[in-house]
Amino acid sequence: MDDLIKKAAADLAQANMAAALTGAGASIESGIPPFRGKGGLWEKMDPMEVAHIDAFMQDPAKVWKLLVKGMKDVVDQAQPNDCHKGLARLEALGKLQTVITQNIDGLHQMAGNTDVIEFHGTFAWQRCMDCNTHIETRRVNVSEIPPRCHCGGILRPNAVFFGELIPHEALWRSRQVATDCDIMLVIGTSAMVHPAAMIPVLAKETGANVIEINPESTPLTGEISDYIIKGPAGDTMNCIVAELEKMI
Ligand code: OAD
Repeated sequence: MDDLIKKAAADLAQANMAAALTGAGASIESGIPPFRGKGGLWEKMDPMEVAHIDAFMQDPAKVWKLLVKGMKDVVDQAQPNDCHKGLARLEALGKLQTVITQNIDGLHQMAGNTDVIEFHGTFAWQRCMDCNTHIETRRVNVSEIPPRCHCGGILRPNAVFFGELIPHEALWRSRQVATDCDIMLVIGTSAMVHPAAMIPVLAKETGANVIEINPESTPLTGEISDYIIKGPAGDTMNCIVAELEKMI
């Protein structure tokens, strides 16, 4: 593992353009539960019942009660962890250009990364389903469920539900970044959800080194990724950044 950390630092040191793709595992150490695996949200509830756009349209109050309100409570409190801070440090060192994230918690921006593509949208804002007004999630009054806009319309997260399209700009830019980068860190994603899981595949096909950071193997491991550093995101990023700082 130490050798792989040194290798990742050396690969980053040499790269012309580095990008990261992050998933729920990057935010676990900030207290936000993942979706799959041990302690994952989808162990407790069926995503088709609480995270599909059809479920929301049918019964917004149910989805707010079962999923969105709890998510608001957690995300409102969350702070960046060492993974987010490490990626921000890489950017400050000129060694990381873009973070593509499947997470909707805004923690990469809070840590200091300036080019963050929110592939599944953002939970920082709610939008009115009638007049499209956007309201900051932390300002939304949840004493009434579902919460409503001043116009009376129901508020929904400005994030992607299952069954919805990826925001066009995020998809387009992510493809561009995957094609242009020569190294991609793939951190804390099970790589089970498409099209996000295709981003490292595209990066690999267009010549990038793909490095996974994840305590568990994924469908990318041994197929698409050049190597996997099997460890928690925060510690691993700390070690990589420390090694890199010795090299530059
Ligand atoms: P998942 O919950 O599917 O996967 C979390 C990954 O994090 C797993 O591969 C874990 O092994 C890994 N992991 C666990 N602890 C970790 C740690 N300390 N450090 C690093 N990795 C760790 O999350 P995603 O792949 O992000 O979509 O899920 C993709 C999408 O599925 C989400 O964006 C969401 C969900 O349904 C939508 O809501 C549209």
